[in-house]
Amino acid sequence: MDARHELGIGLLGLGTVGSGVARILPAKSEALFGHLGTSLTIRRVLVRDREKPRAVRLDPACLTTDPAVVLDDPAIHIVVEVIGGEEPALTFIHRAVAQGKHVVTANKEVIAKHGPELFRAAAARGVAIKYEASVGGGIPIIAVFQHDLSANDLREIRAIINGTTNYILTRMANEGSEFASALAEAQALGYAEPDPANDVDGHDAVYKLAILSSLGFHTEVHPDQVYREGIRQLAARDFQYAANLGYAIKLLALARNTTRGVEVRVHPTLIPRERLLAKVDGVFNGIEVEGDLVGRLMLYGRGAGAEPTTSAVVADVVDLVQRIVRGESPAYQEPPRVPRPVVPMAEVTSRYYLRLIVADRAGVLAQIAREFGERNISIAAVIQMAADAAAGTAELVVMTHQANEAAMRQTVAAIARLAVVSQVASFLRVED
Ligand code: NAP
Ligand code: HSE
Repeated sequence: MDARHELGIGLLGLGTVGSGVARILPAKSEALFGHLGTSLTIRRVLVRDREKPRAVRLDPACLTTDPAVVLDDPAIHIVVEVIGGEEPALTFIHRAVAQGKHVVTANKEVIAKHGPELFRAAAARGVAIKYEASVGGGIPIIAVFQHDLSANDLREIRAIINGTTNYILTRMANEGSEFASALAEAQALGYAEPDPANDVDGHDAVYKLAILSSLGFHTEVHPDQVYREGIRQLAARDFQYAANLGYAIKLLALARNTTRGVEVRVHPTLIPRERLLAKVDGVFNGIEVEGDLVGRLMLYGRGAGAEPTTSAVVADVVDLVQRIVRGESPAYQEPPRVPRPVVPMAEVTSRYYLRLIVADRAGVLAQIAREFGERNISIAAVIQMAADAAAGTAELVVMTHQANEAAMRQTVAAIARLAVVSQVASFLRVED
C-alpha cells in the first residue's frame, strides 16, 4: 500500500475515558498505525465546557461544544463516544451512523437499551458500531464472544461486572464494615459516584449483563427484562456467617441459556469460596463463561479506570483502521439475533440463605421447618448464630437445597407472619 490514509477521529467527551483516549492515540499512533501507512488524527473533541481544566494537553481549537462540528465533519471517519448516559449520546451515535461514520463507544446504557436498533441502522449504512469498553473495562470480552468463542454454544455467563459494588462488598467481607461506611470509603477513593444508585442498585451490572447475554446467546435481552437486586440491604454479619459456611457474597450477574428461554438476573449471591469468582476482590471484575466446546473459561481484570477502558476503546479503533486499510467491511457480521423468552424470576430455581431473628425458645424451629415442608422445600442446614439474652431472641441461618423462587418467596412471607419471628433479616440466593 503506498497511498497514505489520513483518517480523522471525532471524540465525543473528554472526561476520564476521553482524556485517556486523547492521550494514548497520539502517543501510540505511529506504533499502531505507521506500518499501515496510515495517520490517525483527533480532529475535534466535543465537551460541555471548553474552559474546564483538562487532564490531557490538546490544541484548544479542537474543542467544541457544538455536536454538529464533530458529527458533520466529512474528514472525521470514526466517532468515539465517551460521553455516557442515554441522551444525548444515543442521538449523537445515530447521527454519526447516518453520516456514514464508524462508531466506537464505551456506553453500556445505550448499547444495552438500543443496541439492536443501532446495529440495524449501522448495517444499513455499511458502518460499524464497536463497544468493547462497554463491559468489563479493560477485559476483552465483546471481541472474545464475537470471534474467539464463536464456535461455541454458550450455556452460562456468571460475572462480577461492577467494580464499585465489588469494592464495597470486599470491604464488608474483609473489614466487617457496614454498607454505609464501605460506600463512604468507596466515594472518598473516587470509585463510587456522589449518587451511587447506578452502581449499588445494580443498574450498571444489568446493562452489562443485557449486552453479554444478547451477544453471547444471539438474542435480544432488554435491561428491563433482567431481574435486579442491589446491595444496600446487606449487613456485615451476613458476610461473617457466609464465610463460616464457606461462601463469599458477590453481586453476581448471571445469564443461563435454557430450553425454556434465557435466565437473566443480577443480585447479591453466596458463592463457594473456592470458586475463582469468589476470589475476585476489590474493584476488579471477573467474567466466567461456559461453552459447549471450551468448557468453563474465566476472564479477570480491571473493569474500570481511564487506562484499562482506554485499552478497550483504542483496540476497537485499531481494529476498525486495519479493516478500513485492508478494504474490508468494517462491520462485524454476527449471526442473526433471535428473540427468546426470558424465564420469569418466579420460575427460577436456586438454593437460598435466610437469616431470621426469632424468639429464643422451644418449638420455634419446628414452626419454621413446617413452613418449608408445606411448600416442599428441603432444608440443607440450620445454624443458630447468636442469641440476644436481653431481648430473648436468637439469630437463625437457614440454607436450603434447590427450590423454586415462587415457593421460596411464599415460604418467606409465611415465616415473616409467624408470631415467633421478629424479622426476616436477609434473603439471599446461593449459586454453587
Ligand atoms: P466522564 O468523566 O463523566 O466524562 C464525560 C465527558 O462527556 C465529559 O468530558 C463531558 O464534558 C462530556 N459530556 C457529557 N455530557 C455532554 C453533553 N451533553 N455534550 C457534550 N459533552 C458532554 O465520563 P467517563 O467516566 O469518561 O465515562 C464515559 C463513558 O465510558 C460512559 O459511557 C461510561 O459508562 C463508560 N465507561 C467508563 C469507565 C470509567 O472507568 N470511567 C469504564 C468503562 C466504561 P465536560 O468535561 O465539559 O463536562
Ligand atoms: N461504574 C462502573 C463500575 C465502571 O463500578 O464497575 C464503569 O463501567
